[in-house]
Amino acid sequence: MKLLRWFGFVILGLISVLLIFGGWVYFASQRKIDKIYSIHPLSIRIPTSQKAIQRGHHLVHAVLGCMACHSRDLAGRILINVPIVGRIVPKNLTSGKGGIGGKFTTKDWVMAIRNGVSPNGKSLLLMPSLSYSYLSKRDLGAVIAYLKSIPPVNRSLPANKVGPIFRFVIAKGGSDLLSAEVVNQHQKPLHLGKKGTAAEGYYLVHIAGCMHCHGPNLAGGTVPDGAPPGTPPAANLTPAGIGTWTKKDFIHLMRTGETPGGTSINNFMPWEVFKNMTNSELKSIWLYLKTIPPVQSSSSKKS
Ligand code: HEC
Ligand code: HEC
Repeated sequence: MKLLRWFGFVILGLISVLLIFGGWVYFASQRKIDKIYSIHPLSIRIPTSQKAIQRGHHLVHAVLGCMACHSRDLAGRILINVPIVGRIVPKNLTSGKGGIGGKFTTKDWVMAIRNGVSPNGKSLLLMPSLSYSYLSKRDLGAVIAYLKSIPPVNRSLPANKVGPIFRFVIAKGGSDLLSAEVVNQHQKPLHLGKKGTAAEGYYLVHIAGCMHCHGPNLAGGTVPDGAPPGTPPAANLTPAGIGTWTKKDFIHLMRTGETPGGTSINNFMPWEVFKNMTNSELKSIWLYLKTIPPVQSSSSKKS
């Protein structure tokens, strides 16, 4: 009898601890989700020339990879839908029914893309604005000009729902989920370097988000929060990692997802986007990767 009562106390204790923990996760995450950012968005001019729209098309389809999340027609989709994790819904970017294209002002576009902030002042979830914050003013203008030119698609999507696992990741801090928290809100746009040089490679590596997955020093490691379970660590791109590769090996991987050893890499590495870069752009990235300091890491696997 005594034992049974003791057991009851233990269970009660455990339940209270769980409730307190759950409450903390809920309120700590909600506070961050509801945080209002006051942003002074970069002021840019949206070009209207066909040339600028083409540049925007190229950046979106070959470098920035908006379709990877917002779907091929850019009209949005449900990207993650697992009750315990959450439901994450990249928006319909067109001007069709259910899309934001017809409603967004230039300021709204700029804030979403480079600050990770919605017109209501709250952080977006999972938007890779950290990488896009490096876009030059001219390229950002071209991207928005292109997005304004895409055909309207009617697609209404459900709202996001942040489940317990994402709430915990947000509450504990240091996660990649709340875009506005990750972005340096004072980041100045970078300049597109001279075409075909390491300087252009530096720019492309920044805006294409190589560092987002391969780490700030490009030495590889754990992929960001929100990656599907089972995604392998990102590879070491410093000379300590792919130093024995030739330029041809590198371009082949970026176009086919195939390593020099002939293995197909995990398609969380967005080579299906990067394969659309020009040879000159891929060469620039290669030249830049040759200039970065070698860093040994556990992702320096043999290929
Ligand atoms: C890794 C996935 C991912 C990629 C890549 C991505 N987005 Fe998003 N984007 C999202 C998600 C998720 C949302 C919805 C966020 C939310 O509602 O909090 C979103 C929302 C948006 C919004 C809506 C903002 C709002 O206030 O409703 C815009 C605009 C946008 N994205 C533009 C872009 C553009 C332009 C690109 C490419 C340059 C891009 N996104 C690439 C995931 C992505
Ligand atoms: C969304 C995350 C993500 C982004 C963005 C990304 N990568 Fe990757 N990359 C990966 C992952 C994960 C792997 C490892 C795949 C595997 O081992 O199957 C990888 C592998 C590679 C490899 C193969 C290396 C080897 O040793 O096998 C190269 C080369 C590479 N990435 C280059 C780049 C470059 C250059 C960029 C930017 C233009 C980039 N990646 C952007 C996730 C990413």
